[in-house]
Amino acid sequence: MFGRKKRVVVTVATRHPGALAALENAEDVEIREAMTTGGLYRVLPGAHLAVVDLELLTETSVTRDQVSRLLQDMLCVGGAGFAASPDEWLARARLASGLGLETLPARVVALTSLSGGVGKTTLALSLARHFRTKGITVAVAELTVGPSAFQALMTDGYFPHIYEVATQGKTWATWNGITVAPMDWRSAQLLSSDQAERVWRDLAASHVVTLFDVPAYHPFWAVVEKMSHAVLVIADPRPDSLANALFLSEITDGKARIVLNRSGLSARLMVEDPAAVVPDVGSDARGFPPSLARRLAPVIYPGWRA
Ligand SMILES: Nc1ncnc2c1ncn2[C@@H]1O[C@H](COP(=O)(O)OP(=O)(O)OP(=O)(O)O)[C@@H](O)[C@H]1O
Ligand SMILES: [Mg+2]
Repeated sequence: MFGRKKRVVVTVATRHPGALAALENAEDVEIREAMTTGGLYRVLPGAHLAVVDLELLTETSVTRDQVSRLLQDMLCVGGAGFAASPDEWLARARLASGLGLETLPARVVALTSLSGGVGKTTLALSLARHFRTKGITVAVAELTVGPSAFQALMTDGYFPHIYEVATQGKTWATWNGITVAPMDWRSAQLLSSDQAERVWRDLAASHVVTLFDVPAYHPFWAVVEKMSHAVLVIADPRPDSLANALFLSEITDGKARIVLNRSGLSARLMVEDPAAVVPDVGSDARGFPPSLARRLAPVIYPGWRA
């Protein structure tokens, strides 16, 4: 009733016709145009998204280098990239502006590793809680080669496993408002990968964020990898876990991005461009604090502000 409707501010320096048309059609967008580096420098503060073809800009009082450094710290895309998926970029911009969680694109994300005990479960549950506290529907699916860790860690009540959901019509349990979908080793023996995939696709279709907690040596890993928009390899500072993470990243042609958990300096030196660095939070980790996921969430939704 009071004040102006909130708007997404987009800085535009492109002549791409598809990008310009998509921006014009978006109702909640305020466009700030610039065609010089100095002009762009002035209109960037406060923008939620920059659609910029840097080579088009005429260089004036500010160098192209200075502008490109500014752009690195914000949500930015070229004209052609924006035109290819404008809805997705605008959804990210709305997110950056504190608007429109309801427009968030659905995401399936695998947290994986070849080494044990690196923090897959801890980070998956912390991320799930983080998104849930923002009102986003979240499911966490777990694949283990033994009993369910979820069942062991969250002791209140029994969680139906994927076998019971797939064959006995049971529904998933929830924990802190998060749908919990475990698959222990016994279930993996009893179901085909097609059966499992059908259940997981239903799960992903009914949640905005679906996280998989899965070792990359699990027989159903290929199904999870195929379903995932993003694969995060969790590594702790142990040299073997870092070596395994680098190996996984290599054999997936870089789709698997490395997250350094409990990271010290030596780990940071070994991994050139980690997707995220998560601090050691000591025994607090056992409570899966949503705060632990703050640095991970922007890997899933660029522009995310905790
Ligand atoms: N950022 C962190 N700070 C402090 N402790 C952590 C952190 N991340 C994980 N831990 C601790 O490390 C241990 C292993 O974590 P977790 O069980 O999540 O690893 P995992 O990869 O799921 O292991 P597994 O291979 O057995 O499934 C746990 O005791 C957990 O509390
Ligand atoms: Mg685990």
